[in-house]
Amino acid sequence: MKEYYLSKALSILESRRGEAEILRGRREMEIADRIPEVMEIRRRLAMTSVELSKLILRGQADFEETLEKMRRENLALQQREKELLLKNGYPADYLELAYQCKLCHDTGYVKGTPCRCLDRLLSQLAAQDAKKESTLTLTDFSGFSLQYYPSQKDLRRNIVPREHMEELLRFCKNYAETFSVHAKGILMLGETGLGKTHLSLAIANRVMEREYTVLYDTVSVFMDRAEGERFGRLPDRDTLGRMMAADLLVLDDLGAEYASPFGTASLYRVIDTRLERKRPTLISTNLTVAQLQTRYENRLISRLFSLFTTLTFVGKDIRQMKA
Ligand SMILES: Nc1ncnc2c1ncn2[C@@H]1O[C@H](COP(=O)(O)OP(=O)(O)OP(=O)(O)O)[C@@H](O)[C@H]1O
Ligand SMILES: [Mg+2]
Ligand SMILES: [Zn+2]
Repeated sequence: MKEYYLSKALSILESRRGEAEILRGRREMEIADRIPEVMEIRRRLAMTSVELSKLILRGQADFEETLEKMRRENLALQQREKELLLKNGYPADYLELAYQCKLCHDTGYVKGTPCRCLDRLLSQLAAQDAKKESTLTLTDFSGFSLQYYPSQKDLRRNIVPREHMEELLRFCKNYAETFSVHAKGILMLGETGLGKTHLSLAIANRVMEREYTVLYDTVSVFMDRAEGERFGRLPDRDTLGRMMAADLLVLDDLGAEYASPFGTASLYRVIDTRLERKRPTLISTNLTVAQLQTRYENRLISRLFSLFTTLTFVGKDIRQMKA
């Protein structure tokens, strides 16, 4: 998925280099005005580099000697430039190109390997797109409160909902914090309004901050989009391919989608492919286990329950409480 953003990222870096040069040009004009001697020094420095290349081409006998002399002059000039700048209240490197990345000078590569700043840029571009594209709005863990969950024991389940949810919250935070592309998948079960989507999106948010690529939306939106692309109703943006390739895929509200043959087949294919590639998927649903079994193939259900971590949400409808 990152390859998709490479040309965009490289052109952003190119404009950063351009900006650095524009900034230097502006500073040179300012310094030419305030400390003309500095600009004189810079002209002489530029000239020595021309002389140097002439010298190398000519290959004179006293080459070494001349070279040494030029080097000393050069160092003295540079030293003088710095002193002048400092004396006039400017930083010594005021006229150096101000690159945003000191490692790669905004080229994106260090000795042929991608720089940290290029990786960061690629994941930022992917995250921007994912946010723009999703119909869901990201949340965070800090907006998730345990006070909505009953602190009295649920006698039927024999658990204290608040304590159970506290543990579940801890699991989700830790999952996001330690996420890697080989993390296990998560299956969130529970009735409506218990915070499944909220926590899914908090995980998505944190995992994206950690520079992984994440796609998140409802199963229904994903399937409509895939179907629209497949049958030419929507421009082809390779929704299915990107769902298979993302580091983390969040499939919200499984079971609420319209069960078209193409949509269902695509859903199986995406989940299967991700399992084969050992890429984690986070699925949430308010269907019961029995309903899931009626609605989906046995093979999918057994894989979900054996290969995913199941989190069962409990409590009372928070959507209603808040309304
Ligand atoms: N623990 C919580 N603290 C604060 N707000 C919460 C909490 N849990 C849920 N909410 C809010 O309550 C509303 C419903 O929660 P959410 O959408 O996450 O439920 P859900 O379990 O996904 O429900 P559904 O099965 O209907 O999709 C949202 O506005 C959500 O932000
Ligand atoms: Mg939900
Ligand atoms: Zn860099």
